[in-house]
Amino acid sequence: MPTTTTTLSKPVTASTPERAVHHSQRAPFQGTATQCNTPTPATIAPGEQEPAPPRTSAQQRRKSQTQAEPAAPMVALEQVSKIYRQGSCGLKEVNLSLPTGSFLFVTGPSGSGKTTLLKLLYGAERPSEGSITVNNQEIHGLKGDRLSRFRRQLGVVFQDYKLIPNRTVSENVAFALWAQGCKKGDIARRLAPTLRLVGLQHKAECFPSQLSGGEQQRVSLARAIVGTPPLILADEPTGNLDPENSRQVIRILNKLNAMGATVVVTTHDLQLVKQSHHPVIQLNQGKLSWLRK
Ligand SMILES: Nc1ncnc2c1ncn2[C@@H]1O[C@H](COP(=O)(O)OP(=O)(O)OP(=O)(O)O)[C@@H](O)[C@H]1O
Ligand SMILES: [Mg+2]
Repeated sequence: MPTTTTTLSKPVTASTPERAVHHSQRAPFQGTATQCNTPTPATIAPGEQEPAPPRTSAQQRRKSQTQAEPAAPMVALEQVSKIYRQGSCGLKEVNLSLPTGSFLFVTGPSGSGKTTLLKLLYGAERPSEGSITVNNQEIHGLKGDRLSRFRRQLGVVFQDYKLIPNRTVSENVAFALWAQGCKKGDIARRLAPTLRLVGLQHKAECFPSQLSGGEQQRVSLARAIVGTPPLILADEPTGNLDPENSRQVIRILNKLNAMGATVVVTTHDLQLVKQSHHPVIQLNQGKLSWLRK
């Protein structure tokens, strides 16, 4: 039950095992390291509506639930705390299990630990206590090459974009594929449709300094999704966008989720959260509570 005063218009619904089974049956995002042979995000038309709910009948769903093995969670945090060196608290005794193929919104005031949570998930920070498993890997001890290989399974939209300043939009997005070992042909096949998807095909040859904040944010999104990774971590991906572009970003993430990707999105925008049916957690001084399950 919600433990805060923030309310969402939709009622709290049942938890997600059904969703877990449903998504676990979708093969393309279940792989691990190289995603070059997976579908491109190109099949998603800009402006397309949110995907329809699963078409399986209730009876079929019940049957598949009894037959399918329970999916391993894509993300599992157990009693995770993060205290930064200067003593500030990033996260406090957080437990969280996200089924493969789920979509989670993370809300909370500035400084509440949203970015810290994502940083812990992609291994940029280590927990002070507790354990974190992502895509079946305990990430606490990952370093060097193993950490780099692990990160290739993730698409990360950074709150501060982290674009390479002396590379064009195309090169910034292509870099993600190149780092995964994709061949030139694969890169070309994915690049143009992904830029079209985020509405930046006409800026392909621009440098980041020639773009608005919102455009840089969409480059960051394109780079995160171009390799169709099994886990997408998006830190305030709509923070600098107008309402229509924000909805478009969420539509893109919804569609990738419908194709099987697990998606975690931090946001301050409660309007966006209200327009969706996805589970929502709130962080408050590092403590997690559920607003909608
Ligand atoms: N590298 C760091 N060193 C020390 N303290 C940090 C560091 N990064 C974050 N913090 C502190 O941890 C707490 C959580 O920060 P975090 O960036 O996770 O918040 P947030 O919810 O993402 O905020 P915002 O909405 O402003 O992006 C804050 O008190 C912050 O000052
Ligand atoms: Mg943040």
